[in-house]
Amino acid sequence: MNNSIEYMQKAKSLRDVDVEGKRVLIRVDFNVPLDENHNITDDTRITHALKTIDYCIDHKARYIVLVSHLGRPKQRDENLSLKPAAKRLERLLKEKVMFIEDFEKEGDEVLKADNSQVILFENIRFYEGETKNSPDLAKELAKFADVYVNDAFGASHRKHASTYGVAQYVGVKVAGFLLKSEIDAFAKALDDPIKPILLIIGGAKVSSKITLLTNILPKVDRIIIGGAMSNTFLKATGIDTRASLVEDDYLDKAREILDDAKKAGVKIYLPFDVVAADNLKNPTNVQITPIYDIEEGLIAVDIGPASLQMFEEVVDMSNTIIWNGPMGVFEQERFSRGTIKLAHRVADSYAYTIVGGGDTVNAVNKAGEAENMSFVSTGGGASLELLEGSILPAFEVLDKK
Ligand code: 3PG
Repeated sequence: MNNSIEYMQKAKSLRDVDVEGKRVLIRVDFNVPLDENHNITDDTRITHALKTIDYCIDHKARYIVLVSHLGRPKQRDENLSLKPAAKRLERLLKEKVMFIEDFEKEGDEVLKADNSQVILFENIRFYEGETKNSPDLAKELAKFADVYVNDAFGASHRKHASTYGVAQYVGVKVAGFLLKSEIDAFAKALDDPIKPILLIIGGAKVSSKITLLTNILPKVDRIIIGGAMSNTFLKATGIDTRASLVEDDYLDKAREILDDAKKAGVKIYLPFDVVAADNLKNPTNVQITPIYDIEEGLIAVDIGPASLQMFEEVVDMSNTIIWNGPMGVFEQERFSRGTIKLAHRVADSYAYTIVGGGDTVNAVNKAGEAENMSFVSTGGGASLELLEGSILPAFEVLDKK
């Protein structure tokens, strides 16, 4: 049993409170990707918040204030304005959304709103106190709320004024439907899984996933390691990975994890062939090569076809699959085959499949397989911390059942 998930499942949900006539403030995560013309290129995080917003409208909240961050600005920055999100939200809700540039100056207008008016505040990270969890900012936000709803799963690992501090100054604080559904999905994979359980892990750095690997070992049966982080493991077993990205400081840790896995009876699968290239931007020398024969100067950029076949067989043997991290530099068409083909196989499997982490979700979207996974998490760092067994700060402050 994963105690942190069990604890988080105890948070009260929106369904447990009456919002009629109440002023509701929802922390959402509208941290969506924008192109250079400020067009939203993926609105998943907005569409996933609709259920909670619609519920408050249907249940006649007096007004619904939405608070979100976008990017990591240090001060006001028009490039990171939430205006495009307001526009998209209007289209999706088919309702007018009031956009508030500065709630500290336009607070009276907000307080006058009624008839379930939906109001979006400008990027909360334009305010210095947000990331410092400033009590002053938290109190300012709390002025607008009788009920605080956290539906920002993607930001729930942040102890910020809008995800944590504000709850101390509002009488009723509950989880939104997205937050709940994320916890329930991870509970199914970690607390009540159908075995065998496979963890697929990838991405660039072992260092960012050490805690996850260490904590999850007792819970899984098999682990596939791909992406650049597999180079560190390969080097730890004595293989010359040539110019590939390796975290030399983590070689001992990688050996330790391999030993612990062996003792725990957890099978670890590493690539035994790779796609290697002379550089990432304009490669002139690209080879499929066994890991023992990577040419001097080349960098591993994707898993090779033999590794892919082995990984696919491991996928087919699993009943629960948790995936976090791509198999290679999938952003580049040429080096995306390992990740994309694996996404197809995971999606086709009969297993319960849960995908998390920004890059992995992008890859799964690129493969057109998001619909075919059992659950696609909206959390990057948040889903990682959840898998690591942490209690996310945003859950700590919510009312418990
Ligand atoms: C994310 O994209 O993972 C969340 O929105 C959190 O963003 P942050 O890492 O900037 O806090």
